[in-house]
Amino acid sequence: MADSGFQLQGSGPEAYERYMVPVHCDALAEDLVERMQIRPGEAVLDVASGTGVVTRSAARRVGTLGRVLGIELNPAMIEVARKAAAFFDQVEFRAGSALELPVEDRQFDAVLCQQAIMFIPDRELAIREMFRALKPGGRVGLNVFRSLEHIPAFVCLVEALAKHASPSAAEFMRAPFVMESLAQMRALFEQAGFSNIEALIRVGEQRYPSVEHFVRYETLNIPDPEIQSEALQQALTREMELLCQGQVDDRGVIFPVQQFVVTAER
Ligand SMILES: C[S@@+](CC[C@H](N)C(=O)[O-])C[C@H]1O[C@@H](n2cnc3c(N)ncnc32)[C@H](O)[C@@H]1O
Repeated sequence: MADSGFQLQGSGPEAYERYMVPVHCDALAEDLVERMQIRPGEAVLDVASGTGVVTRSAARRVGTLGRVLGIELNPAMIEVARKAAAFFDQVEFRAGSALELPVEDRQFDAVLCQQAIMFIPDRELAIREMFRALKPGGRVGLNVFRSLEHIPAFVCLVEALAKHASPSAAEFMRAPFVMESLAQMRALFEQAGFSNIEALIRVGEQRYPSVEHFVRYETLNIPDPEIQSEALQQALTREMELLCQGQVDDRGVIFPVQQFVVTAER
């Protein structure tokens, strides 16, 4: 904050890679490639690869005899992803949509998709595209947040935004938490033709150095110029400090989070 000298570096994709990936994505990516038992020499597709956290994690497993292709809609995310994966010869990023994957049929041993299906308008088509990209017997693995009521920290943040910022800021914060049920997840994969579907609930954690960091990080990408004003950040932090008292420990603040994780085979 102005009086505490709090400053986050960068914006957009750089900030996503610097702040969100360690909090939200690193552990999830490791969990996903571990569940999927990604092996040396495999060809892996990472759909909606963002800044490439899953791509890099898979690249470490496939080694130099394998390959990992990240497909991502936003070229600015790809730019950051390419820099972050510069030392992996086995990695490539391509601009493209999950709804029309720029790949040939039946090319991949595994398709991964982390924390993105909720943003894709035609989810059925996206899952069918993943099926198309897989070799027969290939595996798919996807994770996504559960709905908001399962993630109390974000319930509180949505309320704080509605109170201090604007209805549109609160709506933006709600957007990732739309997947309702395991049955809904399972149906997407069944309809696409997958078999051996396993749909699970994963309970994880997110840790931030402080409540102020939580507010700063999570409001970074809200498309509202007012959101970064010191007055608003201070109001949100004060509100969240009250609501989060029970979650503060000697290393900052920690919250439980729940995801759906679905694995299946073509
Ligand atoms: C929350 S990020 C997750 C990125 C990455 N998988 C990770 O774990 O960090 C969601 C990503 O999905 C991408 N995305 C949204 N719709 C897409 C689409 N139709 N096709 C490809 N990527 C898409 C966004 O640009 C964004 O990078």
